[in-house]
Amino acid sequence: MGISRAVNIADLRLLAKRRLPRVVFDYIDGGADGEVTMRENRRAFESLEFEPRNAVECPAPNLRTTVLGAQISLPFLLAPVGSSRLFYPRGECVAAHEAGIAETAYVQSTLSGCRLEDVKASTSGPAWYQLYLVGGRDVAMATIDRARAAGFSALVVTIDTPVAGLRERDVRNGAKELATRNFFEMLPYAPHFLTRPVWVMNFLSDGGLMSFPNVMLPGVGPMPYADVGAALEQSTVSWTDLPWIRQAWGGPIVIKGVLSVDDARRAVDAGAEAIVVSNHGGRQLDTVAPTIRALPEIVEAVGGRTEILLDSGIRRGSDIVKALCLGARAVLIGRAYAYGLGAAGGPGVAKAIQILRNDVVRTLRLLGCADVAQLDRTYLRER
Ligand code: FNR
Repeated sequence: MGISRAVNIADLRLLAKRRLPRVVFDYIDGGADGEVTMRENRRAFESLEFEPRNAVECPAPNLRTTVLGAQISLPFLLAPVGSSRLFYPRGECVAAHEAGIAETAYVQSTLSGCRLEDVKASTSGPAWYQLYLVGGRDVAMATIDRARAAGFSALVVTIDTPVAGLRERDVRNGAKELATRNFFEMLPYAPHFLTRPVWVMNFLSDGGLMSFPNVMLPGVGPMPYADVGAALEQSTVSWTDLPWIRQAWGGPIVIKGVLSVDDARRAVDAGAEAIVVSNHGGRQLDTVAPTIRALPEIVEAVGGRTEILLDSGIRRGSDIVKALCLGARAVLIGRAYAYGLGAAGGPGVAKAIQILRNDVVRTLRLLGCADVAQLDRTYLRER
């Protein structure tokens, strides 16, 4: 099966699995600990039931919306996905380019392999920069300046990563050993690569193991790949950092990783123009609530005071529609496009976007709803 025959995101996932070495595929696909939250994210979407209005004509429903005042043509954005350059050569630029073609926004991770200036130049759509404080405050300030100068229009501060979650698959697959570039440490994992020659060729042609060109360490240069775990642990963001981040950035701030009413209120009090209700796709603290279940009370508490976005577990357009029904303005997709990128680069990302767009259109027509702006709880069955 090639990507042209992929019917849904699960098909793209299988194609990614076929092209990528196990350590890379599982880095995308896996979650933290027992992957309970990752599974619950899906279950929670699937257990919500629609209540359609049949025999209503809406041949071409409107999908356009705005986020932070910018028009986007789809009610979904591309989430920050670190190390995308490992999935496909110049992965972040490739994904950002496809987001632009689809007239939606791309969010670039601090932990990217492509320079933020190059990513911004790759897309005709809005670009947001996601900030981790790796390397410390001065390093972050320098990157914030670069992001502003490059034309990024919002800064996304992720608050759920004081330490990387334990992704057990990464440990088993030797993710740490492979990042050392030490021949003897890497050797036991060689078979994973021997069976993926196309990926290996692409990887080598793109310069081999990426570093982090947006984390410029004084006296070192781009942060080396192997340091990322330790650097994350030393870089916890806290609410007391928000004032200086706000001041350094001077533009709209999005707080990503909100799961409770309390944190939503704190984010609004800290001046967040938007929040992302997110459990990081089940990659951080396991057994937290699925986001679609956390959303309604957060909407009720702060919905009038900030824009509310949601991610985690979106694999179908109907998931997107459900999030919009419960008060999200738009959603972020993570793995859904990462699978496409890993499967086939730009055309794979485009395919993921197309699948989800078609899903949303079809779902709206089946619901009898002419516009994403009209979606509300009455399209879902009360249980
Ligand atoms: C992520 N995510 C993430 N988030 C973030 O703020 N900074 C980052 O660098 C990353 N890196 C990252 C890598 C990979 C491989 C994945 C899958 C995810 C989380 C991401 O932005 C988003 O919250 C989730 O991906 C949403 O869940 P789904 O859509 O993947 O289920």
